[in-house]
Amino acid sequence: MPLVSMRQLLDEAAKGGYGVGAFNVNDMEQIQAIMMAAKETKSPVIVQASRGARQFAEDLYLFRLIQAAAELNPEIPIAMHQDHGNSFETCKSAIELGYTSVMMDGSLKEDGKTPSTFEENVEVTRKVVEYAHERGVTVEGEIGVLGGVEDGHGAGGTGLEHITDPDQAVEFAERTGVDALAIAIGTSHGAYKFNKKPDGSVLKMDVLIAIHKRLPHTHLVMHGSSSVPKELQDIVNQYGGNLKPTWGVPVEEIQLGIRNGVRKINVDTDNRLAITGAIRKVFAETPEKFDPRDYLKPAREAMKKVVALRMTQFGQAGHAGDYKPMAITEIAKGYANGSLDTRPSMAAR
Ligand code: 13P
Repeated sequence: MPLVSMRQLLDEAAKGGYGVGAFNVNDMEQIQAIMMAAKETKSPVIVQASRGARQFAEDLYLFRLIQAAAELNPEIPIAMHQDHGNSFETCKSAIELGYTSVMMDGSLKEDGKTPSTFEENVEVTRKVVEYAHERGVTVEGEIGVLGGVEDGHGAGGTGLEHITDPDQAVEFAERTGVDALAIAIGTSHGAYKFNKKPDGSVLKMDVLIAIHKRLPHTHLVMHGSSSVPKELQDIVNQYGGNLKPTWGVPVEEIQLGIRNGVRKINVDTDNRLAITGAIRKVFAETPEKFDPRDYLKPAREAMKKVVALRMTQFGQAGHAGDYKPMAITEIAKGYANGSLDTRPSMAAR
């Protein structure tokens, strides 16, 4: 099946009351791991690539691999998403390549580090929405600033420094017309999110709930949503790694988010940990081995296990066959005639 609009995937998730994991990829084994998990759990899926990943894989290698995944798994709806686009040009190049969804992260300036102003964010995001929607491509925006750094992108900090203001979120959605909105509620990218298990008062779930009440048609996105399980940390450290004790986002908090409008959940770090742990284990236990397949195969299997578990926990498992994917040209018509308009002022439709 051709790549599917992320908007359709998230609209279906909203109807079904579940969330969809968006898993980052850089290479073939990661894509295969996601597809193995999607097949096993019968899940629709979002595959996403950061700017760093596109650069690492020279763009075309990665995109052709996604096309292969779609061809080999016709029963699985797959959306291909640009994670953290830093400019109109980055998003445009992803769309030209064939991505069915882009994130314009205008919460930061083009350097991907410095927080931008609200007006700058609105301006660049609206420009991307106009360009993308004409082509049937989905747009995710960001309001508030996430913590941490991923692939060189991010403001750093703890994630609690720029929590999203619900009034701004509403104004942003109205003025940009984004399909999906990443909000900052205290999560951050990477392994070092919290130095103890975060409870409901650390993660600002009340902010998330307030935003969803006011923006019921805009799909909410949780970034920095790896749970950083202790078991995965332990395997890395047991075989010569050096991770400091750390806590991620508890799955129960993500599930609370899903009950309150979260439809896309970004996960990268957990998969990185699973891969690294599996490779370290092979290196430590069988140092005589040197065929890359001897460690890439267990690495792929370890990532598959994590992804399949998240698919079940997020509720997307079992939903791959629920709907017929619409052509991207049909989606474009929906944007043009206003039927896919999610702006709050249109909510009375
Ligand atoms: P993690 O680092 O928590 O996996 O977050 C990934 C992410 O949000 C990608 O945009």
